[in-house]
Order: sequence, then structure tokens, then C-alpha cells
Amino acid sequence: MAEDGDGNHRLIELEDGRSGGFSSEDSSVIHSPWPGNLRARGPARDKCYSWQSDDVPDLPQDEEREWTQGRTRFSSFGGSDLELRWEALSMCSWQVSRKSQEAVQILTNVSGAARAGKITCILGPSGSGKTTLLNVLAGRQSGGHRHRIRITGQVWVSGSRVDPRAVRSRMAYVMQKDEMFATSTPTEALSFSASLRLSGPRDRKELISELLGSLGLRSCSHTYIGNAVLNGLSGGQRKRTAIGVELITRPDIVCLDEPTSGLDSFAAYQVMSVLKDLGKAGCTIICTLHQPSSEIFALVDQVICLCDGRCLWAGDREQMVGYFSTVGYPCPVGFNPADFVIFLMQTEPKSKTDELTQIWTRKHAEAAAFCSESSLTSPYDEHELCRTPKVRSGFSTAQKGFGQQLRQLAKRELRAVVRDRTTLAVRVTLSVVLTFLFGLVFQGVGRTILETKDQNIFDQMWTGLTYAEVTALRKRKLEWHFNALVQVALVAMFSACQPVILTFPLERPVFLREYSSGTYSVLPYYLSKMVVEVPLVFVQSLMTLGLCYVVMSLNGNFWALLWTIVLLSVCSVSVALAISCAVRQPRETGAVGPLVFVPQMLFSGVFIPVSHMPVYLRWMQYFSFLQYAIKVLGIVEFRHVPHKELVLDAQDILEDSLWVYVGLLVLMVLIFSLTGIQMLRNKATHLF
Ligand SMILES: Nc1ncnc2c1ncn2[C@@H]1O[C@H](COP(=O)(O)OP(=O)(O)OP(=O)(O)O)[C@@H](O)[C@H]1O
Ligand SMILES: [Mg+2]
Repeated sequence: MAEDGDGNHRLIELEDGRSGGFSSEDSSVIHSPWPGNLRARGPARDKCYSWQSDDVPDLPQDEEREWTQGRTRFSSFGGSDLELRWEALSMCSWQVSRKSQEAVQILTNVSGAARAGKITCILGPSGSGKTTLLNVLAGRQSGGHRHRIRITGQVWVSGSRVDPRAVRSRMAYVMQKDEMFATSTPTEALSFSASLRLSGPRDRKELISELLGSLGLRSCSHTYIGNAVLNGLSGGQRKRTAIGVELITRPDIVCLDEPTSGLDSFAAYQVMSVLKDLGKAGCTIICTLHQPSSEIFALVDQVICLCDGRCLWAGDREQMVGYFSTVGYPCPVGFNPADFVIFLMQTEPKSKTDELTQIWTRKHAEAAAFCSESSLTSPYDEHELCRTPKVRSGFSTAQKGFGQQLRQLAKRELRAVVRDRTTLAVRVTLSVVLTFLFGLVFQGVGRTILETKDQNIFDQMWTGLTYAEVTALRKRKLEWHFNALVQVALVAMFSACQPVILTFPLERPVFLREYSSGTYSVLPYYLSKMVVEVPLVFVQSLMTLGLCYVVMSLNGNFWALLWTIVLLSVCSVSVALAISCAVRQPRETGAVGPLVFVPQMLFSGVFIPVSHMPVYLRWMQYFSFLQYAIKVLGIVEFRHVPHKELVLDAQDILEDSLWVYVGLLVLMVLIFSLTGIQMLRNKATHLF
């Protein structure tokens, strides 16, 4: 890498023909403060999975070489030169306890600015309010009575006062955690973001190619992103991919929460140099940093020091050491200034930091008065920052149509299912093994249909039993036959809900990130899950019933039984989705799941008729979708069985109500789906 006359990092062709971008393999060519021997890579990752997809731009070697020659990173970015300025930002939250209402001041009278072409860093110890300030500036902090949060102050973008939520379409926000689909590749992640967030396909491929090159991701563009259990990109590559996904809209302001956290110092440096180049292209960069190394801190242009939600100092990085010297805290020679200030904020008593805050507030007020800027107001402006509670920002209008969203989401979902071969194999094996086990236990149980009157006489002669005893035996056999059906229904219900309960809550952070950036809305997301799950449960039901039908010698119409099992499985999936949408933490599904599914069995009327249950509990039977499915299965299976009334009457099954039961099952699917959609919407809107 070299620097051109303007100080931009340029990618150059190396002598041996390799590109000079900072891919993981070519990290030694990066302009870095480390000596050569420290730049050696760690041990190679043992196994990475890649995927070549045909729906994304192909990047042949020649093209890559051509792309890198003499290019400037992010050349198509910037140009708007937006300056973000904020005055007297305060945020207060009410914690309501049993007797009183306690107010917690999270931000107090924070002022500052972020300029185009510069990296502005919010520096402070843990809990100082860095993320909160960034969220407020990025329009991602809910306020108002409903959230028990009051945000006051003013924000300007290039001189115009704005509600930050209204300019979200021009901002990118990169969260601290990289929430992405583990089974997608960087190219696919960028392509997905582009297809839902860019208006036309005109320069989509070009932009993806530019981003992959600028972010140093070309060498791993077809490697899985990965997660804790699936090997994939390195931490630095993953972070750069997360940045790329948000940069797809060519934003003017880029906000990043702790972009270097969790990375080793070199990977962190790579990320920050990407941001430096992005800044040089003309974007306004604001990031929070918790513990920057000297090399990383040297890349920062402006600093805002936060301590307990108050501003201790804000200004050009070069002036920071000088300022703290003037107020009595000289930074020892050779110390990292960022470490020095963070240490100071954490070790000095509160009275001292309060004093420093007051000194800075006074100096800032004097400077503002000196500039006599009309837009600057009293530092204690009590105007609510977010005055339009329903603002869903500019991006809502830019969203793609429902069909396009559903298509893209379903495509990604299907890809994830196909590529996650372990989960798929576990799913198939479990249902085959369980079905086979049940099949063997209930082997040939359906042959009761042959027990006509003649058979009874034969049985009597053969076994020496009386007619009454043979009838009792037949009744018991009919019960076993019915129990076999119940087991088929139980296997279908549990095998359909289990994968959803285990995987969906883990994906929710990805949904929340994408929803908050306006990539798609709740309904297509939910339906995409269904669109992929329904064919899967169909295949699963076909396997389950196919095996049982043969081994248990069932008698009912195969297709009628199959569609009932499919409907039951879809209902089970919709309940599992509703639970996954309702819980706060993924691990809660483990507790809530049995709470919903076990009563399904209890109130199915199989173990004890509902008429024998306490009156005040009977209403719960109406929520047991399992009982409706079992009733339909019972009617279909026993329709032509002699003495069917022995079992149907015992189970309170009304043969004439077949379509009522089917209708109730469909109604249950609708109710649980709508509940899930509403829960998901609540979660998403409550967050931002
Ligand atoms: N909605 C809220 N309600 C109540 N308290 C909150 C809320 N949001 C943040 N806080 C509190 O405000 C303080 C600052 O939180 P914040 O996440 O902004 O800190 P931070 O500087 O980003 O910390 P870290 O470096 O650990 O990420 C914390 O004490 C946190 O508990
Ligand atoms: Mg934080």
C-alpha cells in the first residue's frame, strides 16, 4: 500500500503480481507501524467453508488485479460533506420501583461536533455513556413516556436543526456485535443488503466489487462469515464485512459502536485504517472507542471525552494532551494519551472529574459566545430532542416492495437451511429414528379393521374366550390403534417445533439490526420463515407418515392423513415462532417451550377426557391445536373401521364435525402467526 499526494491509501500492484490490498494473506503490505516480524500472521485457521454462488458478481483474478491497480478506496463515497453538531444533549431514564420513581441521568449537557472527512471518537471508560450518545446521534435511541426516557438538546446537520431519526437514511450504524448470517459469504451479505436497499441494479455489482476491494475482503469474498460454532471469517474480516453491509447505501455519516472491540491490535488497526480512508473519501465518521492503542489513536482526528455521561473535553486529538496539562494533568512522556485520559477519568475522585467537567462547560460556553453562532442556545435547553414520536425516518419510503423483500429473504433462509447440513441431518435423523421406533412398537396395530364378526367367532374358537371378552379385547386393540395415531401426531408436533425454537431466537439480533436499518419489514421476514419451513415440514411429515403408514398398517386415506399432519406441523411451527418472538433472551425458549407444548398434550383429551377435568380448566382445551389434529386423524383413520364408535365416542370425537376441526386448526395457525408477527414488531419498535 502506498499513499498518494492527498494522503489517501492507494492499492498498488506488487512485483509478483499479487494485489496490494490488505487481505488476510497480504497483510504484510499494509502501511503499518509494526516492524515486519511482528506482522506475521498467526496459525492458519484449520477449516473454512466457502461457497461459490451464481447470483453474486464473479470476481476472476484478472478483474481483481485490474480493480486494484492505482485505485483509491471508497472512490464513489462522500461528496455531501455533512457536519453533525449537537448541543446540550441530556438523557434521563426513570426506573419505577414499587413505591417511588427514580430518575437516572445517563447523559448530561453533552456538546460536540463531527466533521466531514474526519474520524471523531467518543472516548471513555465502560458505562460512561458512549453507546448511548452514539445511539442518540444516530437516531436509534427511543425516547418518550412509553420508554420512560427523556432526551433533550439539539442536533444540527450542516447547519439545519434536525430530529436525528429523520436523517437515518443518510447514516450508517454499525453495531458493536457483528450480527450476520453465519452461512452467508461477504459477497452474499453485501449483495443481499444491496438488493433490498439500493434503488436500481445499475451500479450494484460495481459497488459490491468496490466495497470488497476497499474493505480488503476480496480474498475471502466466498468464505462463510461463520460464528462460534461454524468456522469462517476472522474477527477483523467479519467486522469489515459488517461495516460493508451498512456502507451499501453510500451513507454520508457513519456511526460505529466499538469497531475495534474483541479484535487483536493488528485487526483493529486494519479496521481503523478502513475508516480513515472512508473519512478521507468525504464521509463523517463517529465511533466509540474503549481502549485504543497508540497506533489506532493516531488515526483519530477529533476526540470527545465522556465521563459519567458528561463531557470532559472535546476537540482536535493533537490538542488533548495540551489541554489536560493546562488543567493540571500532564500526560507523562511516552504514555498513550488515550490510556492516560481514560485512567484519569476512572481513578480521580468524583469531585475532581466534576470540576473538570465544569471547567470544560465554561470554556465551551465562552467559545460559543465568542463565535456568537445563532444556532447555539443555552446549554440547558429543555426542548425534547425527538418531538415526532412516530418518525420512521426517510428509509421507509426507500424500502423495496413486499414481493422483492420476501423473495430475497426466502432465498437467504433456504440457503442457510441447505448449508447448515448438521442441523438438517439431525432433523431428518431424529424424525426417522423416532418414527421407526414408534412404528416398531405399534407394528401392525391397524389390522383391527379385519376383525369383522366372523373374525370374532374365529377368535372365540381359537382363544377359548367368551364373546364379551373378545369384544373387550377388540376395544383395547382399537385404543392401541388410536394411541398409535396420537404418537404420530406427537412426533410431527415436536419435530416441527424443535428446530425453530432452537435456531430462530439466535437469529433475532440479525433481524433487529436489519429491521432497524430499514432493510425490510416484519411481515415478509416472518413469511420468509414460513415459506421455507412449510416445504421442510411437508417432507418431514411425508417421511413420518410414510413409515408409520406401512409399519403400523394404518387404514385411512394416506393423503388426508398427510395433510392433517402437515397442518399440525405448520401450527406447531407458528406456535414455536410466536414463542421465539415473545421471549427476551434465546435461552428463555427452553423454559417457555414446554410451558406451551406440554399443556397441548394434557388438554388433548387423550389421557383424560376434558369432561372429567375441573370446570375452571376446561376452557384451555380450546387452545390445544393438538386435540383438533388428533380428532381429524381419528375420523380419517377410523372412518371405515367396524365398531369405530367404541373409540370415537370415548374420545369425544364427532364425525360430522370434521371440517369444523380442520377450520379450527387453520384458525390456530392464523392466530399464532399474527401473535408472532405482532410480538416481533413490538420487539423491533421497542428497541429503536
Ligand atoms: N435505557 C436505559 N435505561 C437505564 N439506564 C441506561 C439505559 N441505557 C443506558 N443506561 C445506563 O447508562 C450508562 C451508560 O451506558 P452505555 O451503554 O452508554 O455505556 P458505554 O460507555 O457504552 O459502556 P461500554 O464501554 O461498556 O459499552 C450505563 O450505566 C447503563 O446502565
Ligand atoms: Mg458501549
